[in-house]
Amino acid sequence: MAPEESTEAVRLLPSFERRFLAARALRSFPWQSLEEKLRDSSGPELLLNILQKTVKHPLCVKHPPSVKYARCFLSELIRKPSGDSVTLSESTAIISHGTTGLVTWDAALYLAEWAMQNPAAFAHRTVLELGSGAGLTGLAICKTCRPSAYIFSDCHSCVLEQLRGNILLNGLSLEADVTDDSESPRVTVAQLDWDVVTAPQLAAFQPDVVIAADVLYCPETVLSLVRVLQRLSACLKNQQAPDAYIAFTVRNPETCQLFTNELGIAGIPWEAVPHHDQKLFPYEEHSEMAILKLTL
Ligand SMILES: C[S@@+](CC[C@H](N)C(=O)[O-])C[C@H]1O[C@@H](n2cnc3c(N)ncnc32)[C@H](O)[C@@H]1O
Repeated sequence: MAPEESTEAVRLLPSFERRFLAARALRSFPWQSLEEKLRDSSGPELLLNILQKTVKHPLCVKHPPSVKYARCFLSELIRKPSGDSVTLSESTAIISHGTTGLVTWDAALYLAEWAMQNPAAFAHRTVLELGSGAGLTGLAICKTCRPSAYIFSDCHSCVLEQLRGNILLNGLSLEADVTDDSESPRVTVAQLDWDVVTAPQLAAFQPDVVIAADVLYCPETVLSLVRVLQRLSACLKNQQAPDAYIAFTVRNPETCQLFTNELGIAGIPWEAVPHHDQKLFPYEEHSEMAILKLTL
């Protein structure tokens, strides 16, 4: 960053700090100036400095603003410098219409944070997400990690309907209405039930990376998930099986243990991804998060 650019960027920080600490309306923040600065200077450094002055400010850590305010602010911030934000229509109930997929779960936020700090894992690759739910992780990846294609999937029709709406709400086109925008990934939504999808159907997606967040919540889903991962291990692209990242909240140690045991039985090696230090989103207090990288 040139010295004069750096000085101008630093001038933005107090504006963000003052407005955030006063919980001012998001439209009053100097987004336009930030946008301009990010285009011609060192974006990640400036964004990290803004985070330090806002959600990670010692005062906010001690007296946090409402979760909704912090979430809206971060959604706006993570979309810079493109000018968009991640906007989600969600249910307010944890379970509604017989599904857990109409609301964003903490592991989705945790995986999105990790992805945003590790965009190379997704850049120019085809990503298949299992159990996408409301779509936060996928939208964050589509908007910040430059995948070539992103397949959102879920089994539940209400979830799929909400997911399609959220994708459109965020200015992404679904494959049927794709225009020639080489900057955006090819986005599709697939109805994919782990209990019925076949290996050839999975292979047709040609995934380079498979991800899932918060899908280990009962023994039945664990078993279904491991079976679908086993089928995915046979989906070779350029003679390689996809990378897989599974994020979850450790709510019940037995369920997590069941998952790793079943991976062992299925012959799928795994390793825990080191915890990332940049906590961008507010989570339930005391919840323990994990991401496993599987070698399919
Ligand atoms: C707890 S929600 C998590 C949603 C999202 N990934 C998140 O973290 O916010 C679990 C999701 O897995 C989906 N799911 C559960 N069993 C499934 C199955 N057998 N096949 C496909 N999706 C399934 C549900 O419909 C739901 O959307």
